[in-house]
Amino acid sequence: MSKQTRWTPKDCEPKQLPIYQHKNKLIQAVRSSTFLIVTGETGSGKTTQLPQYLHQAGFCKDGKIGVTQPRRVAAITVAQRVAQEMKCTLGREIGYQVRFDDCTSQDTVLKYMTDGCLLREVLADPVLSQYSVVILDEVHERSLNTDILLGLLKKVFSNPREAMKGRSFPLKVVVMSATLETDKLSSFFNNCPVFEIPGRVFPVASMFGTAVGPKDVESTFYVKEVVKVALDVHTSEEAGDILVFLTGQSEIEHACDMLFEKAENIDYRYDVQDRTVEGLLILPLYGSMPTDQQRQIFQAPPPGIRKCVVATNIAATSLTINGIKYIVDSGFVKQLNHNSRVGMDVLEVVPISKSEAQQRAGRAGRTSAGKCFRIYTKGFWEKCMPEYTIPEIQRTSLTAVILTLKCLGVHDVIRFPYLDCPEERFILEALKQLYQFDAIDRRGRVTKLGELMVEFPLHPGLTRALLKAASLSCQDLLLPVAAMLSVENIFIRPGQPDKQKEAAKQHRELAAKTGSMNDFATLLSVFNACKSSDRPSGWCKENWIHWRALKSAFSVETQLREILLRLQQRRDFPFETFDGNKSELFRRCLCAGYFTNVARRSVGKVFCTMDGHGSMVHIHPSSSLFEQDVELNWVIFHDVLVTSKMYIRTVCPIRYEWVKDLLPKLHEVDVYELSSVARQEVTEDEMVKWESREAAKRQQEASAEDVM
Ligand code: CDP
Ligand code: MG
Repeated sequence: MSKQTRWTPKDCEPKQLPIYQHKNKLIQAVRSSTFLIVTGETGSGKTTQLPQYLHQAGFCKDGKIGVTQPRRVAAITVAQRVAQEMKCTLGREIGYQVRFDDCTSQDTVLKYMTDGCLLREVLADPVLSQYSVVILDEVHERSLNTDILLGLLKKVFSNPREAMKGRSFPLKVVVMSATLETDKLSSFFNNCPVFEIPGRVFPVASMFGTAVGPKDVESTFYVKEVVKVALDVHTSEEAGDILVFLTGQSEIEHACDMLFEKAENIDYRYDVQDRTVEGLLILPLYGSMPTDQQRQIFQAPPPGIRKCVVATNIAATSLTINGIKYIVDSGFVKQLNHNSRVGMDVLEVVPISKSEAQQRAGRAGRTSAGKCFRIYTKGFWEKCMPEYTIPEIQRTSLTAVILTLKCLGVHDVIRFPYLDCPEERFILEALKQLYQFDAIDRRGRVTKLGELMVEFPLHPGLTRALLKAASLSCQDLLLPVAAMLSVENIFIRPGQPDKQKEAAKQHRELAAKTGSMNDFATLLSVFNACKSSDRPSGWCKENWIHWRALKSAFSVETQLREILLRLQQRRDFPFETFDGNKSELFRRCLCAGYFTNVARRSVGKVFCTMDGHGSMVHIHPSSSLFEQDVELNWVIFHDVLVTSKMYIRTVCPIRYEWVKDLLPKLHEVDVYELSSVARQEVTEDEMVKWESREAAKRQQEASAEDVM
């Protein structure tokens, strides 16, 4: 094995990174204009170094430096790394904040955070008066929240005089992107300067495979293939670490299990294909992993051991792992897409774009020449993979974001400065949903309820249910449910079939204990049972529940409770009464938020959604209602999973009477009406005129019908 091909940790010392040579010029560039675009290859040191340079140059004298990341894992690990480089305790001078996890203090001057967190800060303080520099990082990922922040910062800070209102010193905005689009970004920010950090990349040879062809877009056997290819690389290629791209947590854990089993059977005493095989260190990497495990990813493996990281797309740009020489690319990614067939956002496994595939391959060429093994064919590349990834703003629900914009006083949500405009129908869809939830009125103005709703970092429907429960003084039923739905899946699904059966049986028993066959009630009961247990971790183990996920749910519940308590102190907090039993009360509260997700039994076990789309859906096997023979006529559900069929997950039986009065709201609002109010804030006068015109039109239509 040739030792020269191994990277040494020295290669990645801060002073060795490409960005270091440009330190002074960069500081100067930030000083001299309000907006600055910085681009450079991933791994050149933008995220970890630039904020430190600005810190050293005194930018923290007046205010803080904030750096946003689309992904929470990136925000946390990068903050850890920077704290380590600066020899600080994380949470003091350097800190991070992600949804439901705030690791900052009074002393924090350099703060890494998710873009969602900064968006929430803008709500409370639109001119970001505490910051001297805001760095929007990973802009090429085009996450929904980053895109909205781009528009907001442009709107507020383009006019220097406007921008200084409420501030005592100017704000600097730095926009960082790994690739492309620098012209577009620069012209978006009034032709601001662009700083390019010249990269240092080595060639990567990419090879197509034979396993996944154009017909395999919906197959799942790619996991097996990826494992096979990774092992081939391990036994036949020279030293260098492997990075495998898959789509999500359970798949990654499954692949790691398989790799582990197979790697154990390789006989390391003998040369394989004339080379000494190293041992294999297998490490998973996905968003919801515990942070101590994440740290291991960045450490060099022990001598004679090859590292194999099995990751989601997070390793494509947000995190750079040193020493990677081989890529195994599955060609797929898990993406949240608005599915017009179902009328809501669904998580789907889809082929990556060609530009994404190139980005993945590039990860092998950071410290020396590398190789990328694609498991898909050239035909798949040509026929199934789009050129570029569509920005999130053009493919997901905008409900929460539009409410935020409205609360920020942006009434004209159609002519807001978007880098790429979302389709108008998505905006209208969001307005319609906000109207249905009573978050905005017919004129598009935020209601009292909407002002309360925007405070919660949850899906608006879930927030609506929670607020309903709070108004009926039964928040203890909904807070745990909201928390459980905000963390990763809590039910363990082992890879081995016999264990899988055992776990499923245990989960059924947990559901049966609630006596109501309602998946939301199961979540509540698991939460409470574990919380009141003397040995919660042991309880989880016995019941095949992820202890770590439950621990986060406990913390999320506390935080949601704090938000609620704060809001309940407002004098206008709504209050209602109800007399009926607890199970009905619970389900009625759920209905207040989930009446957009109602389905009625069609034939057998097939249900039909009531949102106007009339999609045929099936109860997902993970639901406690899956094997029930009870007469279920009406159900509500939390989300939809689309594979070969459309499955509804987290399901609860309801009575028609509970949603009867709410369902008409799904159809009552006219999108054209919303479209006109979306464009402008309609004055009282115009509204009266418009209403009388509409009334006249209706009367005319009615008399026309009479004649016919
Ligand atoms: O932002 P950009 O992609 O330009 O680079 P970076 O994330 O600042 O990474 C610079 C270097 O720091 C790379 O060599 C990373 O591998 C390393 N790094 C690390 O070792 N541990 C982390 N948690 C983050 C970065
Ligand atoms: Mg970066």
